[in-house]
Order: sequence, then structure tokens, then C-alpha cells
Amino acid sequence: MKKITIAIDGHSSCGKSTMAKDLAREIGYVYIDSGAMYRAVTYFCLQHGLFTKDGVKKDELQAAMPNINISFHLNAEGRPETFLDGKCIEKEIRGMEVSSRVSLIATIGFVREAMVAMQQSMGKEKGIVMDGRDIGTTVFPNAELKIFVTASAEVRAQRRYDELKAKGETASYESILENVKERDRIDSGRAISPLRKADDAILLDNSAMTIPEQKAWLMEKFEETVNCNSPKYQ
Ligand code: DC
Repeated sequence: MKKITIAIDGHSSCGKSTMAKDLAREIGYVYIDSGAMYRAVTYFCLQHGLFTKDGVKKDELQAAMPNINISFHLNAEGRPETFLDGKCIEKEIRGMEVSSRVSLIATIGFVREAMVAMQQSMGKEKGIVMDGRDIGTTVFPNAELKIFVTASAEVRAQRRYDELKAKGETASYESILENVKERDRIDSGRAISPLRKADDAILLDNSAMTIPEQKAWLMEKFEETVNCNSPKYQ
């Protein structure tokens, strides 16, 4: 069967990575978390003292870009982990230090250009599921299957709150809700490649869906796409 490209975009904390990862595992495709790449660049900046009090040393970062070597490897449980220069940084890029700075890094044009080029090269053989904010609009505008996932800010904040609680971390629901809304504002409002639904993406509002329901929904869309006779899918 011919392999296709699957682009999954959407708001933060709406469960798109879980869906994307599950689908990729099930159908034997490569999964790439493009947000992890922006997080890796942010971690690089922290490691090299490139953040200033109110921004980032752009000239130094631009000069360093060709040497930022990001890769993904499966761990013993078959889950993909992010590496920077051969070192696993999966845990570091999920912490608050990176999370609170990554939106700024993701607004920088030369960073986006480098990430998009890397993402396109990872997808040139197809057989890939990539999730992010601009995958269906900028990275793979010709992807055969595009999904745009959303859920209400309140539902997303509650999911994030439950996740943190399960990990034994404490944060107030109100502060998480504020953070979710702020990230939406930054992601949708930035000048370059803002978060937006591609015209040909299928909208999924999963506010009232369970994870197994989302998984089944996505599998159905995949099967419909690969079984479609349109020349776009051949
Ligand atoms: O999906 P995430 O929360 O790990 O993404 C981290 C940040 O990177 C977030 O601010 C959105 C941004 N991002 C982006 O601008 N483009 C992408 N393709 C993926 C993520």
C-alpha cells in the first residue's frame, strides 16, 4: 500500500500528540513531534546562555543554527525521545524553564525556516505522522490527510491539571487555564506561520471524546484516505 503524509495541527494541550503517536504506532509510520524541535532549540539557548532579560541573542542563535543537531530515537518501550547532539533531552524539554520560553523561540523566522527544512526532509519518503501548528499549512501543504484538533480552553486546562496531579505536581486550575489561553493567543497571533486550520483539514473538536474514541475516529479517517481513489492519494 502506498504511504501517505499525515499532518495533525491544533491548539496546545488538546491531545493531538497522543492521537498522532497512537496512529503512527498502529499503522507502522514514523511519528515526529515538531513542537519538541522548537523545545530543543529553546533548551540549546538555555544551555548556551542565549536568553537575555527580555529576549534572546538572535545573532548568536542564528550563527549557531547549523550546529543544532536534533534527532529522535525510540526508547526501550518503543516511545520516541528527543535528542540534541546525541544526548537525550526528553525530560529537560518538558520542564517549565523550556515551556515558558518556547513560544518566543517559535516566533523567530530563521528558527522556523531551519525547523521546516528539517521536517520536510524527515517527511520526504512519506509514511509519516507529524503534529504541530503549521504542518498542514506550511510544512506539508500537500499532505493527503490533514487534521485540525481543538477542544475548549476549559477542557484542555482540566486535562492538563489532571495530568500534573497524576504526576504529583501542583498547580491551580485557574493558572493553567490562563496559560492555555495565553499560548493560544501567541500561537495564533504570531506573524510567521500562525496556528490556523488549513482549508482542506478536517476539524476535530474532541471536547467530549475519550482517547479510544479519538483513536477510532482518526483510524477511520486514515482508512478512508488510503482507500480513496482520487489521484491525490495515488
Ligand atoms: O506542541 P508543543 O506545546 O510542544 O509546542 C511547543 C511550542 O512550539 C508552542 O509554543 C508552539 C510551537 N510550535 C510551533 O510554533 N510550530 C510547530 N510546528 C510546533 C510547535
